[in-house]
Amino acid sequence: MPDMAFRLQLRPSTLDDADLVAALQAQRDPDDLSDPVLLRYWWQMANELQRSMRQVAVQDGEALAYVGAQHELWAPDDRRFGVVRALLRKDVWDRTRYSELISAGEHWLRDEGATTSVVRVREDFAKDLDALHRIGYREDRRMRMSELDLLAKREEILRTLDECRSEMRRQGVDIHPLSQDTDPDRYQQLYEMVIESEMDIPRTVPWRVLSFPEWQRFWLGNPGIREDHFWIACEGGRIVGTSVLDCPVTRGIPWTAFTGTLRSVRGRGIARALKYESMAQAIEAGYTRVRTNNDADNPPILRINNQMGYRLVAPIIELHRSLD
Ligand SMILES: CC(C)(COP(=O)(O)OP(=O)(O)OC[C@H]1O[C@@H](n2cnc3c(N)ncnc32)[C@H](O)[C@@H]1OP(=O)(O)O)[C@@H](O)C(=O)NCCC(=O)NCCS
Repeated sequence: MPDMAFRLQLRPSTLDDADLVAALQAQRDPDDLSDPVLLRYWWQMANELQRSMRQVAVQDGEALAYVGAQHELWAPDDRRFGVVRALLRKDVWDRTRYSELISAGEHWLRDEGATTSVVRVREDFAKDLDALHRIGYREDRRMRMSELDLLAKREEILRTLDECRSEMRRQGVDIHPLSQDTDPDRYQQLYEMVIESEMDIPRTVPWRVLSFPEWQRFWLGNPGIREDHFWIACEGGRIVGTSVLDCPVTRGIPWTAFTGTLRSVRGRGIARALKYESMAQAIEAGYTRVRTNNDADNPPILRINNQMGYRLVAPIIELHRSLD
């Protein structure tokens, strides 16, 4: 039994702590982005493209607790949101300790000049949610974390893939992985397409539009993203849509990182066709499940996912608290 009277000894964390923190995440949900290689990469990107801080409490070579906070590089007129992530090992979970972690994140955000702190937490992590409510956090929006069983849905996915392919041929839309595209302008086109469609993801917390080199670094430097998993739809010599899987490097399951189409081509089944290609490829690669996170207020992607057979794992609640 751990001594419950101890105080957490938080110390600044480095990229080398990713293994410890990924193990802590895996203890809470083994499928929740618990790959240390990907976690390290996300931290590195937060260091390069945002402002961030991370602290960890370690005992006997294991992480007991972790708190991280980050925010966009705000423009002068931006609303100043910052995001806090706190993890506390189950056997030492205690409301005071959890609140201290949140407070450490808020303290850093306040010093940075943030005006609103944001925490995203699974609805079934009831103790975390209750502690956040008591501190004064209130729900702002919801996401749905859902999962597709690729074994149970295999035949249906492969059958619908055939239908999608015929429909795309009929419409003159060519769907293939980025690795097979030879257009010298493909990365710039993909960048512009993603930036346009990302704008339409429902959200409260805005994000900074990345420059083309930042975007390339963020997407194509990700060790979980391969160009042969980056499905693109082309029409009239332009990239008009994409769907891409983020695959684990050491452990965990794949997640759809993004699906988007240009506004001018929506409602023609292009996103659906891209997603079916991506899922069929995941089946072929031997994966048995895929997950995705979607805003609860995003009807088109939820319609596609429901039709494919995605089932809710847990709602994710986004809570806000004013730091003023
Ligand atoms: C989500 C998105 C990729 C869908 O692209 P699309 O090419 O229009 O998708 P499809 O045509 O394949 O399918 C969309 C389905 O949603 C349905 N739909 C569209 N708007 C809807 C609404 N408000 N309510 C219910 N269903 C809706 C369409 O009718 C279609 O279903 P159907 O073919 O059964 O009729 C596109 O809207 C987009 O890029 N959005 C911004 C980025 C985003 O939110 N991505 C998802 C999160 S990563």
